[in-house]
Amino acid sequence: MKNLKISVLAAALAFGALAPATGAELPVYKDPAAAPAARAADLLGRMTTEEKLGQLQQLDGLWDTGAYREEFPKLAREGRLGSTLNVRTAPHANALQKEAVENSRLGVPVLFAFDVIHGYRTIFPVPLAESAQWDPALAERAAAAAAEEAYAVGLKWTFAPMVDIARDPRWGRIVEGSGEDAYLGSKLAAARVRGFQGADFAAPGRLMACAKHWAGYGAAEAGRDYNSTDISPSALRNVYFPPFKAAVDAGAATFMTAFNDLNGVPSTAHKANIAGVLRGEWGFKGFVVSDYTSVKELIAHGLAADDEDAAVKALSAGVDMEMVSTLYRDKGPAALAAGRLRAADLDASALRVLEMKFRAGIFEHPYIDPALEAKTLLTPEKLRLALDAALKSLVLLKNEGALLPLDPGSRKVAVIGKLADSREDMLGSWAADGKPADAVTLLEGIKAVVSPGTRVVYSSGCYTGDASEKELKAAVSAAAGADVIIVAVGESALMSGEAASRVSLALPGRQRELLERLKKTGRPVVAVLFNGRPLELGWLDANIPAILEAWQPGTRGGLAVAQALFGLANPGGKLPVTFPRSVGQVPIYYAHRATGRPTSLTEKYSSRYIDSSSTPLYPFGYGLSYSSFTFSNLLVSPASIKPDGKALVSVDVKNVSARAGDEVAQLYIRDPAGSETRPLRELKGFERVTLAPGESRTLRFELTPAELGWHYAGGFAVEPGTFKVYVGSSSAAGLEVSFEVLP
Ligand code: GLC
Repeated sequence: MKNLKISVLAAALAFGALAPATGAELPVYKDPAAAPAARAADLLGRMTTEEKLGQLQQLDGLWDTGAYREEFPKLAREGRLGSTLNVRTAPHANALQKEAVENSRLGVPVLFAFDVIHGYRTIFPVPLAESAQWDPALAERAAAAAAEEAYAVGLKWTFAPMVDIARDPRWGRIVEGSGEDAYLGSKLAAARVRGFQGADFAAPGRLMACAKHWAGYGAAEAGRDYNSTDISPSALRNVYFPPFKAAVDAGAATFMTAFNDLNGVPSTAHKANIAGVLRGEWGFKGFVVSDYTSVKELIAHGLAADDEDAAVKALSAGVDMEMVSTLYRDKGPAALAAGRLRAADLDASALRVLEMKFRAGIFEHPYIDPALEAKTLLTPEKLRLALDAALKSLVLLKNEGALLPLDPGSRKVAVIGKLADSREDMLGSWAADGKPADAVTLLEGIKAVVSPGTRVVYSSGCYTGDASEKELKAAVSAAAGADVIIVAVGESALMSGEAASRVSLALPGRQRELLERLKKTGRPVVAVLFNGRPLELGWLDANIPAILEAWQPGTRGGLAVAQALFGLANPGGKLPVTFPRSVGQVPIYYAHRATGRPTSLTEKYSSRYIDSSSTPLYPFGYGLSYSSFTFSNLLVSPASIKPDGKALVSVDVKNVSARAGDEVAQLYIRDPAGSETRPLRELKGFERVTLAPGESRTLRFELTPAELGWHYAGGFAVEPGTFKVYVGSSSAAGLEVSFEVLP
């Protein structure tokens, strides 16, 4: 502690937070009482071109150790290292920060960043699973907990939330977002930004958030990562942009550009989106960072002729900070001298970065207390939150004959499948510094919740690749005579996330064969899914009586699944993304348009397939419970409103079972006639409620222009006419009522 006090004092003196004894005027940028914008402007005015470019440079430290690279201290002393990603923990961060703050000409601190996507060391369910909670307040709490842990190891910026809407489960990064819907995605984007940043991201335990990837990344053609995207203006405005707008409105400090080219323009040089929409229309005041070497990739895209051209096009488009590639630094000076790069663009970017550093408080608090980590990570409260988060993310897809919940006093329980005994697969992709050793497996969870007299037998069965005949036979033998067989199937953590697209959505390896063999034993089979994307579950749905979607549930995921299977908890999650019958249906999503020949199960000449049902296997918003609920008394008032008016919707939800449980009431609208066609249904409200047996509750929703409007070619508007309202337990169910919007 003594050393820290000295270095904090040294930092204060170096940075001049303590007025010099001479009584000389304190420079504005050193005055904590001055406004961040004023401090940034004053500091910018003192910088050389090289120092300005230095603030726009982010370099990557060593991911596995958190250490910085050997050239970083010198760059920091020269004021040429604005930010790092992956450098973390006090010893590394404080040592590098000391060079920047105490040994450079202007003492500008380094901004330390890391991918804290769904937890730092306590790992929460992957974001797609978290979206299945339909509980933004819970997502906010998880982000806040992640920020506390990340801050404790010297970080001040996370590259989250990822808010890319995704409607193609072949794309591996569908796991990182909120699924297919703009409204649900917007609520979760805002919640996660609030969680990371709090009311003031300068506060201890808070991080700057980063909405990514701007824009359209989730629409990668054929679900192939990094692939081109071709998105209509209507889809951009009504589907892909809203979660980013929600992040801006929630105060997101930064944005990150995407790898993809959008309608022929790489996102990392997309001036219309960055300068036009983000800053011009939405008033975003933070700064924009590229994705990893995406500035350099402008050459591969075929937009830039060479390094300097790439630097000029990205910086001129408004990409303030360059992640890992060094073209701004290397080619900026010559481009400036030749007039190919405007000095005003450089100054504008450097100013935005500096202002956010002042707002983040790292000039006054550049160092992290080394003692903070041990008392912040993996606390009982955070682990309890991770358990609650996992429980609420579970989606019960099938429960034939009320097979679930199981009897904790069962005589013999067979647990089959390597995924039931895999710690790292509980954490999922982008698990930051989550440690598999901290994770509870499904097998451990089951052993913890069954009675002492229950015999639990495990066999690895098959993982996600091949399995020997011996392993499959051993699994069948282990299942012999069991009261119930619990089979863990799905994907490994590495099969989704970045650079993890699949052409198939089938259960990998010999998992299907394993299930077929176990079904033949005649014993009841429960399938538990661990996966980062929708999978093809048609055979399971037809042959397995109980199916629980567990995604990648985090550090306490195995315990959560076990508690749900044996009735200590009641699953109530809902799908944030459509599960297709076949990958051949992709893209398939609930908010689709009617077409002139709407899908019909009987009419040949309708929009349908001849070799499959055209409906999804499980629709968006679907999920069962051990309880049963009814919806009744759907009302809307008044019967008509003006386009700028408000309609009030109410509905009664009742738990008609003998068990307390959660239901997610979902409100959808449809505008059946207008100057452009709109989707058959659009989610515009939801509420997850816990109801006691027999309890009924009236839920209320408001429909204002924000919910009723649509981005038409002529702008955002609420068009007069009839609006239909549906409220129910999924996008495919519900009561219906309508009201009028008057001219
Ligand atoms: C990756 C990802 C981005 C991440 C960044 C830093 O390539 O696209 O989401 O934040 O690089 O790790």
